[in-house]
Amino acid sequence: MRFDIITVLPSLLDSPFAHSILQRAQNKGLSEIHVHNLRDYATNKQKSVDDYPYGGGSGMVMQIEPFAACIEKLKSERDYDDVIYMTPDGVTLNQAIANDLSTKGSIIMLCGHYKGIDQRIRDIFVTREISIGDYVLSGGELPAAILVDAIVRLIPGVLSDETSALSDSFQDGLLDAPIYTRPAEWRGHKVPEILLSGHEAKINAWRDEQQLQRTQDRRPDLLQDE
Ligand code: ADE
Repeated sequence: MRFDIITVLPSLLDSPFAHSILQRAQNKGLSEIHVHNLRDYATNKQKSVDDYPYGGGSGMVMQIEPFAACIEKLKSERDYDDVIYMTPDGVTLNQAIANDLSTKGSIIMLCGHYKGIDQRIRDIFVTREISIGDYVLSGGELPAAILVDAIVRLIPGVLSDETSALSDSFQDGLLDAPIYTRPAEWRGHKVPEILLSGHEAKINAWRDEQQLQRTQDRRPDLLQDE
C-alpha cells in the first residue's frame, strides 16, 4: 500500500515510520510512505502557503494552489483510492475505518496547519476527513502518522501469525483480556492460576470472560447495539 503525505513540516515525519513494524513493512515492500513538502509547490517567491482569511478573523488559512498542484501531480502519476484530510472536525478514527483503509492501494493524506485549509480543497479534492479524537493538535502530521500506523499493521504479511492484528483489542468489538509473563509470582502478586494450567479450552473461556468484563467496566458503550 502506498501513502503520499503532504505537509509543511516533512521533517516531523522523518522518524515515526523508521522503526519496528512500520519500518519492517517498508523493508518487505508491503508499504511505501512518501512525504511531500507543500512549500515545493508554492507559487510565490516567498514560498508561503497560507494567507489571511476572507471575512476577517484570527489565524491564517492554507491556500488552494499549492495543495492542488501537489495533488494533481500525484494523480497524474497513478490512481488514488482516497484523499484524506486529517482534521478535528472529521469522522473519529476507529478500528473499522482502519480495517477499511487497509484494503486500499494508494492514498493521499493532507496535513493542515494554522486555522486549517481553504474549504475549496476539501470540496474539490478530499474524499474522507478523519479526526483522531476530540482535541486539537497543532497540525495534522502526528494524526497522519497515527493513521498510517493503524492501517499498516493490518496489511496482510506485516505482522507474523503470533502477533496477528486479528487478536487486537477492538477487532472483535471487545477490549483485550489481561496478559502476564514470567515470573509467575512477584512480591506476592500471582499470575491467575488458570493461565498456568495448560488447559487451552479453559484458558480461552477465561480470556473471553475477562474481555467481556473489562469491556463492561471500561467501555460499556462498545457493548451497546448499533
Ligand atoms: N489536526 C489537528 N487536530 C487533529 C485531530 N484531533 N485529528 C486529526 N487532525 C488534526
